[in-house]
Amino acid sequence: MINRRALLAGIAATAGAAGLRLADRPGYAQELGLPPESRAGRTVRTTLVAAERPQVLPCFGGVSLPMWTYAALKPVPVIRLTQGDRLEVRLLNRLPRPDEHTSIHWHGIRLPNDQDGVPYLVQPPVLPGELFDYAFTPPDTGTYFFHSHCNTTEQLGRGMVGVLIVDGDVVDPYDADTVILLRDWRVNLEAAAFRPMVTLRGAGRAGSYGTVRSANGATNPEIALPGSADCRLRIINIDPTRIMDLRLEGAEAAILAIDGVAVPPIPFAGWLLGPAMRLDLVMRSPPIGGRAALVDLGGDERTELAQLVSAGIDVRASGFDPRPLRAARIPEPDLATAERLAFTFADDSGLALPEPGVPPGFLGTLCLSKASFWTINGRMWPEGGHQSPPPPLAELALGRTYRLALTNKTLYDHPVHIHGHTFKVLASDKPGVPVHYADTVLLRPEETLDVAFVADNPGDWMLHCHVLEHQETGMMGYLRVA
Ligand code: C2O
Ligand code: CU
Repeated sequence: MINRRALLAGIAATAGAAGLRLADRPGYAQELGLPPESRAGRTVRTTLVAAERPQVLPCFGGVSLPMWTYAALKPVPVIRLTQGDRLEVRLLNRLPRPDEHTSIHWHGIRLPNDQDGVPYLVQPPVLPGELFDYAFTPPDTGTYFFHSHCNTTEQLGRGMVGVLIVDGDVVDPYDADTVILLRDWRVNLEAAAFRPMVTLRGAGRAGSYGTVRSANGATNPEIALPGSADCRLRIINIDPTRIMDLRLEGAEAAILAIDGVAVPPIPFAGWLLGPAMRLDLVMRSPPIGGRAALVDLGGDERTELAQLVSAGIDVRASGFDPRPLRAARIPEPDLATAERLAFTFADDSGLALPEPGVPPGFLGTLCLSKASFWTINGRMWPEGGHQSPPPPLAELALGRTYRLALTNKTLYDHPVHIHGHTFKVLASDKPGVPVHYADTVLLRPEETLDVAFVADNPGDWMLHCHVLEHQETGMMGYLRVA
């Protein structure tokens, strides 16, 4: 299979613990130049109302489905800040099911622990009729998203997600800036109903895939862009399950940022984008009248996700020379003094499967999972869900660098996500993983990743798989930083 390994083989030789050496990298010659800007910001206030809103997304083919969303905006609300801005969000829970509590997790944002949105661990769950106020100033620029952190498979599965963009990383403006949200929907369109979001079969394997795929709520939509232009594409995988093997056909592009964090532009030949992972590309659009296609080569077939259609006027005559973003501010791990830890992601063959007859959709309204399939270091979040946190997976000293060996002992992919911090991905025992920063790293079957981070943010921080059915059936834990 061609994957990010093979496609990045050209830079693999330079991508070791020593870092990606620009001089050896084919393609583009621009180093991340300017440091981040500092400015005192505004305060941006908004209210998000979690509620059932029947909606007809274009990908539903005229059928209205009982979506759960944060706002009556299609496809999702987008909160846009500039670096230095403070965000204040009031969450109101108007979900229709008794006891269906919720919260908002600001995925990838290095924020104070009590704003991180994990029920029971850092805040009380927000019950129907209740509210919760979030307030924080995101320290980093980039492309982020937010979602609930309880019964997430269903709440996100029905649509509770939004985009958070923090501007301030652009040195020399691009000609367009477009968000592309990729996800499936588990729907039965004849019955105008969602399918069960969780299945035992899916939870114990690669997850329950959707039946309808979409980009920005539509099936293979046409997205208009200026012609011969340098267009920034902010691609976000908001699917609960699916790992996408992304390609761009018909245009040249470069990776500008991974999980919001700038990299020196890397020629884009493909990337495996797991759930919750983001990729910022700059694409030189074809001349007017032309089109490029964003496709997924994962799974058994090639799927066209979106058509990028050049319209308007041709903007640029010069060759493609992608301009980098400003450097990020992620604290640099001190590898000389790092303490090493190992986390093994495994299945749970030793534990009893749920009795036959347990209905699919076995996640109760209290995050209660009756099944467990997955472990981290031989432990799973105990039956009973978020409301009975186990002891932390590890206790970390505030300010210290930790170097983690993340090992996958299963046959399935696990996008491993850390809250409140950003990993520096140093190396893999498989070829072709460039050095980069990420809050969610795809851990392939039988792979070991070498990642490091500075534990500079006090609190209890989740470490979990972002295939939501894996998370909710055991593959989650947390690190205590104090
Ligand atoms: Cu995007 Cu703990 O999650
Ligand atoms: Cu997983």
